[in-house]
Amino acid sequence: MSLFDKLDHNRLPVHIAIIMDGNGRWAKARGLERGEGHKEGVVAIKKVVEAASKASIQYLTLYAFSTENWSRPAEEVEGLMHLMVYAITRETTDLKRNGVRIMCIGDLDRLPEYVHTTLDECIRETAGGTRLTLVIALSYSSRWELAEATKKITGAVTRGILQEKDINEETIGNYLTTRDLPDPDLLIRTGGERRISNFLLWQCAYTEFYFTDTFWPDFGEKELYDAVLYYQGRERRYGKISEQIEFEQ
Ligand code: FPP
Repeated sequence: MSLFDKLDHNRLPVHIAIIMDGNGRWAKARGLERGEGHKEGVVAIKKVVEAASKASIQYLTLYAFSTENWSRPAEEVEGLMHLMVYAITRETTDLKRNGVRIMCIGDLDRLPEYVHTTLDECIRETAGGTRLTLVIALSYSSRWELAEATKKITGAVTRGILQEKDINEETIGNYLTTRDLPDPDLLIRTGGERRISNFLLWQCAYTEFYFTDTFWPDFGEKELYDAVLYYQGRERRYGKISEQIEFEQ
C-alpha cells in the first residue's frame, strides 16, 4: 500500500504551512556553496507542490524569506531574490495549467522592483487557479504583520470606520495579510530546529506542529505524506476534552 493510499482522504489538512529550513546545511554537508542548497530547495518546492495538489490539499504556505533574512550577507539575499524570480518565471505557465493560484504575504514593499514585477505577473496569471492556493511568505514576519494590523485598526477607529467596542478576534484576523486564508491545520518545520521563528504566530493558535530533521532539499512527496499521517493521528481538542470531541463526531 502506498503512502498516498494510507492517507485518510476524508480528514486531510485544508491548509499546510511549511518552514523550509536546512538548505545551507544540506549544501555544506556536500561541500557546496549555500546557494546550491537554495537551488535544490526550489526543486523540493516543486515536488511538494505536486504532492500537495495530488492529495487535494487546498492551501500551502511556504516561508520563503523572513523579515530577519534581510540581515543575511547581501550576496546570499541577492542570490535568493534572483533564484525566486527565475523559478517563478519558469513555473508560471505550469502553475496556471495545474490550477495553482499564487498569493504572497509579507512586507512586499521592501522587495526590489524586479521581484515585485515578476510576482505581480505570476499572481495575475494564476489568479483563476482553483485546485491549490500556494502562498509565498516573503519578507514576512508575524510581529511585523501584527504591528501593521494594529496600525490599520487604530487608523480605522480614528476615522470612525470601526468602534473600539467592536474589536474582537475576528476583527484582528480580518486585518492580517492572511485574511482570506483559513488558519493552518498543520505546520511543518524541516532542518531539525524546533521553533516557530516569527511565522504565523496568531494563525497557529490551534495548529498541529510537525518537526523533522530532514533538510528541506531532501523533503518530497513521501516526507509530506508522513507529516499528513502524523497529523491524522492527532486529536484536535481546541481546549475541550476527549469525550466532548468523540461525542461531536
Ligand atoms: C532556509 O534554509 C531557507 C531559506 C531561508 C530560503 C528558502 C527559499 C527558497 C528555497 C527559494 C524560494 C523560491 C520560491 C520560488 C518561493 P537556511 O538557509 O536557513 O538553511 P540552514 O539553516 O541550513 O543555514
